[in-house]
Order: sequence, then C-alpha cells, then structure tokens
Amino acid sequence: MKVAQVLHMNGGVGDASYANNSSVQQKVIRLTKRIREEGIRSLYCSTLPKSLAIADLGCSSGPNTLFVVSELIKTVEKLCRQLNHKSPEYKVFLNDLPGNDFNNIFKSLDTFKEKLCDEMEGRIGPCYFSGVPGSFYGRVFPNRSLHFVHSSYSLQWLSKVPEGLDNNKGNIYLNRTSPSNVVRAYYDQFQRDFCLFLKCRAEELVEGGRMVLTFLGRRNDDPCSKDGCYIWELMATALNDMVSEGIIKEEEVDSFNIPQYTPSPSEVKLEVLKEGSFCMKCLEVSEVNWNVFDDWNAAEFESERCDSVGDGGYNVAQCMRAVAEPLLVSHFGEDIIQEVFSRYQQILADRMSKEKTKFINVTILLTKKT
Ligand SMILES: C[S@@+](CC[C@H](N)C(=O)[O-])C[C@H]1O[C@@H](n2cnc3c(N)ncnc32)[C@H](O)[C@@H]1O
Repeated sequence: MKVAQVLHMNGGVGDASYANNSSVQQKVIRLTKRIREEGIRSLYCSTLPKSLAIADLGCSSGPNTLFVVSELIKTVEKLCRQLNHKSPEYKVFLNDLPGNDFNNIFKSLDTFKEKLCDEMEGRIGPCYFSGVPGSFYGRVFPNRSLHFVHSSYSLQWLSKVPEGLDNNKGNIYLNRTSPSNVVRAYYDQFQRDFCLFLKCRAEELVEGGRMVLTFLGRRNDDPCSKDGCYIWELMATALNDMVSEGIIKEEEVDSFNIPQYTPSPSEVKLEVLKEGSFCMKCLEVSEVNWNVFDDWNAAEFESERCDSVGDGGYNVAQCMRAVAEPLLVSHFGEDIIQEVFSRYQQILADRMSKEKTKFINVTILLTKKT
C-alpha cells in the first residue's frame, strides 16, 4: 500500500466526512491551546517578524483546519495591540497529502477571512493562504521560510506500513498478541519517520522558529498497551467476525496493517534529543474520551448536530470511519465497508458501556536551535 497515495480523511461535508466527524480532534486542539499560545507569543516577541509564516501540517479539511490558524492570528493581533506594534502580514500554508479535500478548504476561505476580520473589529494584517500538497516526511517548504509550524493528530501516521509484519496474524495494528519483531518494526518505522520529519522542518524553519506538535499517543511505555491499540483491536474484532462468517478471507485481514504508531512521551522526547536541531520547551500529556460528547460542552460545539450526542457507539464508529475508510476500501474494496462499520459500532457501544475508553495525546513545544 502506498500510504501517501491512499491515506486521506473522508472529504466533502456528508454524513461520513471528516468535516462532520472530527469533534474528538477539535477537542484535542482546544485542550492544547495554552501551549500554542505560549509558542506563538514567545516566537513573536523574540523575532518580531513583519511577515509571519505559519504552516499547519496534516491540516485535513473541515472546521478544524482553519480553527488553529484563526486562534494563532488572534493571539498575535492581541499582542500587537498590547505592544502598540503594526500587525504583521500572515502567510498561512495548509499542508496535507495530495488526496486531501483542499477544494473544500479553499471554498471556505472568503467566509473565514470576513469572520476573522469582524471578530478583530476590522484590524488585522493581510492574510495570504496557500495549499501545499505533499508528505511532511520530505521537504515541503523552501529553506528558512517558516516561523511557526503546527500539527495535530497527524504525526502518528507513518510514511508506510512497516516491513516484516507477515506474522501479525489476526491483528491490524499492534496488539498484546503481536510478535516482538512486529513491535520492533513499528517502533523502528516511527523513529525513522519522526527523525526525518524533524530534519526537514529544521531546514524549513528560521532560527528560533517554533513547532507545536500533538500526537495521538500513549501514556504507557508498552507499545502494545490498550492506550493506542484498543480502538484498532475492536476494528480487528469486527473484521475477524466477518472472516469466521466467510464474508472476507483470513489472508486479507492478516495482510492488512494500519500505518500508524502511537508513541509514548519518552519515545517522542528521545527522538527530539537524538536528532538535535530543536530544544524541547514543553511536553504535556492529555486525554479525551472516545465519545467526545461524554464531556460535551454545548458552548464548545455549538455547530455540532445534537441528535447523536447520546449514541457513543455511532459517534466513535463515524469518527474512525472518517479517518480509516479510504485505507479499508483500498485493501478490502468498497462492498464490505457498511457491514464493517455497523459491526464496529455495536462492538464499540458494548465496550464503552463497560469501561472508560480514552485517547491519549502527547503535545510538545519545540524551538529551533540557533
Ligand atoms: C486525523 S487528521 C487531523 C487533521 C487536523 N489536524 C485536525 O486536528 O483535525 C490527520 C491528517 O494528517 C494527514 N497526514 C497523514 N500523514 C501525512 C503526511 N505524511 N504528510 C502530510 N499529511 C499527512 C492526513 O491526510 C490527515 O488529513
């Protein structure tokens, strides 16, 4: 499977779209706001840029894409007013893989700019937007062209499915039953990918540039702990049930592996230290319920449809469908998708009625060394 060609979140604005099923990711963005504010404020005060270049890597398409950008611009504008500085101009780069629904973002830009301008009472610096398709596991920007890089819930995606997973039978990701060579292969791929990511960004950022990165991760040192693996284990249960009923072939499940790695805080920290281009200013771990509406705050999600709030199984299955459907379709074909997600929804609902299930987030603030 060529991840860069296959992986993308469900586009458009339909029922199964990422735009309509990304409240978990939005909650994570809200939880990490303070770290972004710290990063952008300290960047502004130390470099006083007249032209501020911000990139969001793995921006996807939907309400979250421009949410972070608007928050960053508002913080800088407020700071400029406090300091009596002229607003900088903003160059905003939205990056994702080529299959991302960039058109949907572009269509919303005029409304976004008008709203932002109204919220800031008409006084903001000029904003220029660009879409930048390409893998962040390679160079996507010119040398020293960026001041601030943000990425949320994207870096757990690997550049490829690790090699040598043939004996990860019955699993679609790491699991307690995964052989040790499989665990090693996933970790090695994460190390290679994240190191390359850091090297590329080190070339692209100006000295003193900042990065705020949030991974879907785990608290625990054990890569096979439930933190990062359980959500995929339950999807594997749905697929394996369909194998036992003869709907899909066992070999198809055995050869399907998710190109993801949910790192622990110490694994993230170790790569930053080893690569050496960045100082780590902050590392925080937070968590969010699988069913984000369990601790739903009406003010936070005023644009959400309220009818599905109580149906945790449905919400989580839709969230995972928006993220994983293109990968499943490319491996198993279109025909089984409805059945997989309807079974997955039942399994999720059952597990969530019996135990507390959470996603773990690992967030870091990095400064490029001078
Ligand atoms: C779960 S979405 C997160 C989107 C958004 N940041 C948010 O918080 O809602 C992850 C995004 O990362 C993108 N992505 C994954 N691997 C990538 C890569 N190598 N280069 C660029 N984008 C990538 C995916 O296509 C997807 O749009």
